[in-house]
Amino acid sequence: MKKKRVGILISGRGSNMSSLIEASKASDYPAEIVVVISNRPDAEGLRIAARHGIKNIALDHRAYKSREDFEKDLHQALIDTDVELVCNAGFMRLLTAGFVEKWHNRQLNIHPSLLPSFKGLHTHQRVLDEGVKITGCTVHLVRTDMDSGPIIAQAAVHVEPDDNADSLALRVLQAEHKLYPLALALVASGKVVVKNEKAVICSQNGPSRSDEQHILYAPSLSPE
Ligand code: GRF
Repeated sequence: MKKKRVGILISGRGSNMSSLIEASKASDYPAEIVVVISNRPDAEGLRIAARHGIKNIALDHRAYKSREDFEKDLHQALIDTDVELVCNAGFMRLLTAGFVEKWHNRQLNIHPSLLPSFKGLHTHQRVLDEGVKITGCTVHLVRTDMDSGPIIAQAAVHVEPDDNADSLALRVLQAEHKLYPLALALVASGKVVVKNEKAVICSQNGPSRSDEQHILYAPSLSPE
């Protein structure tokens, strides 16, 4: 099996990046992480990537005159490493249509809510303010509009009555760490087909029931 070459974009601590790196160490995982790029030179995730022996690059967006100039170097760094798939993992820069189109259906993002609800920042506080009982996380293909694009996988997380934004963020993050490796594996193994802007999960012989059954889960109900 030839593993897909993946570049991860980060801005901070990189815990989702770490979950992808750990998953990719399995010999039967269909993707390998070949480069980690941060727009913030002080991102902890860069140091973690280095400890794993993964090529890591700081591209400080503040050093560029325009988003386009920054994205030109970002794209080139991905191309220079023969990247086939891009995973945004806590990457806090909005990308222009020019960049997003270059990686159409080859760029994933993770967001800590059940999209299309609660796009944007301060997700968990807004979930609490609305009194939502079930939240979660979503991995989707990237489109130009923020936190939009065909949904590959979602995990549900219950909201506890005594949750605050931090406790909820932690519980959702634990689900994120399970969901992102699963979603990347689906894409890297060619099981995700986009039809009418919806991601359909297929096996070689068409839509696969067994794969679908792994996509929606409630971690609180799992036997672990
Ligand atoms: C995660 O909650 C992710 O969903 C969001 O930003 C956070 C990044 O955390 N987009 P980390 O850097 O992966 O630890």
